[in-house]
Amino acid sequence: MATDLKPLIDAALKARDAAYAPYSNHPVGAAVLAADGNIYAGCNVENAAYPLGTCAEAGAIAAMVLAGGKAIKHIVVVGPGEVACTPCGGCRQKIREFAGSAGKPVTICDKDGNILLETTSAELLPHAFGPENIDEAQG
Ligand code: THU
Repeated sequence: MATDLKPLIDAALKARDAAYAPYSNHPVGAAVLAADGNIYAGCNVENAAYPLGTCAEAGAIAAMVLAGGKAIKHIVVVGPGEVACTPCGGCRQKIREFAGSAGKPVTICDKDGNILLETTSAELLPHAFGPENIDEAQG
């Protein structure tokens, strides 16, 4: 495979173990390999006001942006079980923002880091609205 996934998977597993998910008991970790070559991880952070909880992917993307990472090359998501923890609709859009219109690899692993699904951000969110659509509208 093009990218050595072990460091990414390990980072996602470590992030998953830090998740704050007392309401769903569904801890999730995500790790982004950014275009700058660095790995940025995030976990879900729930809230007693349930809708305010944030997803692992959102945390990883925020960490990337804070550090100056500009683009996603690959993202790994690790859930707590054997069922593939695919990104929610909102996170698909968040990933799309930094993954380009052609898409980047998205790898979903089980609780032990075994690969369950290898897809792309474009496959997860076809015909997505992204930065280019706004550029076009502004001429
Ligand atoms: N969650 C994520 O963090 N990422 C996903 O890909 C799917 C769902 C979180 C949100 C919530 O804290 C918990 O998992 C259950 O939905």
